Amino acid sequence: MIGGRDSSETARDPRGFAVKFYTEDGNWDLVGNNLPVFFIRDAIKFPDVIHALKPDPVSFHQEPSRIFDFMANTPESMHMLTFLFSPRGIPVDYRHQQGFGVNTYKMVNARGETVLVKYHWQPKSGVGCLTEDEAQAVQAKELGHASMDLYQAIDRGDFPQWDLLVQTMSDDEHPELDFDPLDDTKTWPEDRFPLRHVGTMTLDRNVDNFYAESEQIAFGTGVLVDGLDFSDDKMLIGRTFSYSDTQRYRVGPNYLQLPVNMPKNAKVSTNQRDGQMTYVVDGNEAGENTHVNYEPSSHPGANREAPYPAHVEQGPTISGKLTRRQIPRANDYAQAADRYRTMMQWERDDLVHNLVGLLGKCERYTQARMVWHLLLVDPDYGTRVGAGLGITADDVKKLAPLPNQPLTEDDRQRLGHLGDARPRAAGGTTLTGSVPVRRLADMPDSIASQLVSVPASGNGDGHRVPLEEVALVKR
Ligand code: HEM
Repeated sequence: MIGGRDSSETARDPRGFAVKFYTEDGNWDLVGNNLPVFFIRDAIKFPDVIHALKPDPVSFHQEPSRIFDFMANTPESMHMLTFLFSPRGIPVDYRHQQGFGVNTYKMVNARGETVLVKYHWQPKSGVGCLTEDEAQAVQAKELGHASMDLYQAIDRGDFPQWDLLVQTMSDDEHPELDFDPLDDTKTWPEDRFPLRHVGTMTLDRNVDNFYAESEQIAFGTGVLVDGLDFSDDKMLIGRTFSYSDTQRYRVGPNYLQLPVNMPKNAKVSTNQRDGQMTYVVDGNEAGENTHVNYEPSSHPGANREAPYPAHVEQGPTISGKLTRRQIPRANDYAQAADRYRTMMQWERDDLVHNLVGLLGKCERYTQARMVWHLLLVDPDYGTRVGAGLGITADDVKKLAPLPNQPLTEDDRQRLGHLGDARPRAAGGTTLTGSVPVRRLADMPDSIASQLVSVPASGNGDGHRVPLEEVALVKR
């Protein structure tokens, strides 16, 4: 996300995971990341989060004090930070990384009935990650290890595979959930929204030319076919505006005419015209009347608008006022806690080590606010990071919540017991087991891909549940 094209592939950073389906109805792009959630839930903040993560505009150096300044003022980022600063923030290579649509989409049937859907790509050979130290050792010798690994594996016929799994949810309000289904800082609990297998992707050939097929490929969340739609997820709508906009600049106005971006299995006529590098004349190949680049028309051979779907209405009935404000069910800490408690001990240790290392380079007020957030997430998490920075719960308990910060009733009670609050009740989310790179090597694919960890459940009697109870169970 952050580094330029030739930057190190061991950087701690979300990896894009985008797939273009050349379907019979036109192209469908599933534009995701290797981590299941994102830093923010409101598209208007996207330039801010990217600016904070990118190098300082003056010194051009990536600065922890800018990154954590933004994050400490953005409580919804805690779930993503917990992923990113764990070993999952540095996948061992591309073959052992997951993919997620992250945002919530919709599926629509012929009657116009909709369901909400989340997409997951699960690598058949398991999830493998690097600790910070392991990543530094790789980087000392090679900047492009992951691309090289993928290229070589495909070249020798060891084709990597990913299962595509979906979670679906009825397309309505869901007041029973403690999160908003359209909030991309949340995952959907797998015990209530089980993962369903819909297909398998095999990478069975390398590109013939990297620039033609990888650099010039353009993915966008608005590239959809009938039956697949985006939801009212605010981030997703923001994304859908921005991809094609960028691509007309990055690749060129006629980027859709490049072979890698054109539909391969469907005839698409748009009546669009001109601009630099125009190559294809719309409708020429299909023998249409190329004088008519508008619609409707009575001229012979003119292009006709595609038939409308049989249904005239789609999805649930919605009533209310349009507003622009924080969603009521922000619940910024509960799933970050689940994540901390679902991780294996080696992942937690690396997470704490990594956060302490970078927060150590930040201002004291940023450190204090981050420790405050992490104590609210989980007492053990905040205490350990605080210990590394020389900050205790007593040091930060006087901090007031951020302006307009929505806290749950549970969060408010925890504020009164910062540092010694009971563990949160488990939220039903699981985590595909992440295997340290040294164990991945001797683990058969069939086992590695089935490991999943579930959170230790809060026992509700005020005792902390030992973290060692986090179990690795078979899916
Ligand atoms: C409001 C939030 C977001 C905005 C405005 C946004 C915008 C953009 C833009 C402008 C690009 C460059 C596109 C190009 O040059 O081709 C991009 C690339 C990308 N983004 Fe996002 N993004 C957002 C969030 C996300 C999220 C949550 C994900 C993961 C689910 C994601 C995944 C990707 C991927 C995989 C690419 C590379 C696509 C390509 O090269 O064609 N983005 N994003």
